[in-house]
Amino acid sequence: MFYNSIEAAPPDPILGLTEAFRRDPREHKVNLGVGVFVDDAGRTPVLESVRRAERMLWETEKTKDYLPIAGLPTYGREVARLVLGDELHAAMAGRVAVGQTPGGTGAVRIGMDLLKTYRPDATVWMSSPTWGNHHGIAAAAGLATRDYPYYDSVRTRVDVDGMCATLEQVPAGDAVLIHVCCHNPTGADLEPEAWERVAAIAAKAGWLPFFDFAYLGFGEGLAEDRTGLLAVLKRVPEAVVAFSLSKNMGLYSERVGALLLVAESAESAEVGLSHAKRLGRVLYSNPPRHGAALAALVLGDPELCALWEEEVKTMRERIRGLRRQLVAGLTARQSAVDFCFIESQHGMFSFSGLNDAQVAFLREEKAIYMAKGGRINVAGLRSDNMDYVCEAIAESLKLDE
Ligand SMILES: Cc1ncc(COP(=O)(O)O)c(C=O)c1O
Repeated sequence: MFYNSIEAAPPDPILGLTEAFRRDPREHKVNLGVGVFVDDAGRTPVLESVRRAERMLWETEKTKDYLPIAGLPTYGREVARLVLGDELHAAMAGRVAVGQTPGGTGAVRIGMDLLKTYRPDATVWMSSPTWGNHHGIAAAAGLATRDYPYYDSVRTRVDVDGMCATLEQVPAGDAVLIHVCCHNPTGADLEPEAWERVAAIAAKAGWLPFFDFAYLGFGEGLAEDRTGLLAVLKRVPEAVVAFSLSKNMGLYSERVGALLLVAESAESAEVGLSHAKRLGRVLYSNPPRHGAALAALVLGDPELCALWEEEVKTMRERIRGLRRQLVAGLTARQSAVDFCFIESQHGMFSFSGLNDAQVAFLREEKAIYMAKGGRINVAGLRSDNMDYVCEAIAESLKLDE
């Protein structure tokens, strides 16, 4: 048999961790690995806005027929407005073509396949560090990658000078992958002035900005979180945006994403989309209907949309509250490390600074699971495990002493 002759593939670093977590019989276990929001009861809830849309859909849906390769047109229109904001959408929506994709991952993949097809020698520049799957997707697309400096782990913030110095040298034919907000895995984002610097470099150097926008609304707010993206889009002729509604609409398993192609003209954007459709056709044929239909209903109905915005705000504020509690809990228990930086980071993730030995200790001795490199999903904390986690982290720090 074919399978007898090959070795098993290693488990995915993040999803494999969740599998190990599920198998762990210890009752006090805590999963701070995978990027999933949980409420204080430990549930990843279906949002009320989505539930209401689900009821509407149940009553009105007439078919489960295939969608077009580029997905549900109403979804594409709503997503363009959401990603660009009303003002920029009105100014440039004609230059943007949108294709619905299976999650943000699908958008990153189609975007990279597109790049590989039409610029086969392009290198994709990635932040150091970045979401692990970025490297896997680029490799699968056959694209070379290089890193640009991003996280300064000593000063626990973005190394803006290092990043800009490298981006100035990136050749015009390459692409630069940039997290729009809530950087995964570090939680460290660019400030508006830094975005202006990046925008000016992009405009001058001529490389293709390739944005990954998976956490809209989890940083500072819907309008605030797109500020950096808009700063760049206002200054460059072309860009790619991979967008996801997995986290902010709680639609994880529905696979709801979009690829936005920004071009110099409406015609060029449509040409780009025609090629993206060709690539989607051979990968998954056409995207799934259900989640996109829900998202289109939520975003297209003013009342549901207002409710969704409130729900995003509630999730965002919960994560911020958890950050505050985590910092307070750690500060009260030890003085070896100043963890205040966790409070100024955005989104679900934080680079805790814990080393491999400490991460292994927490997992083996304390049943606390976090990704290698010490990435914590802050959104996985709860009031009933906060003290336990702070205590355990404080204990793990003693390993260094
Ligand atoms: C940076 C980043 N991009 C893209 C994604 C993809 O999200 P999904 O495919 O679940 O929509 C994620 C999810 O963890 C992410 O963290």
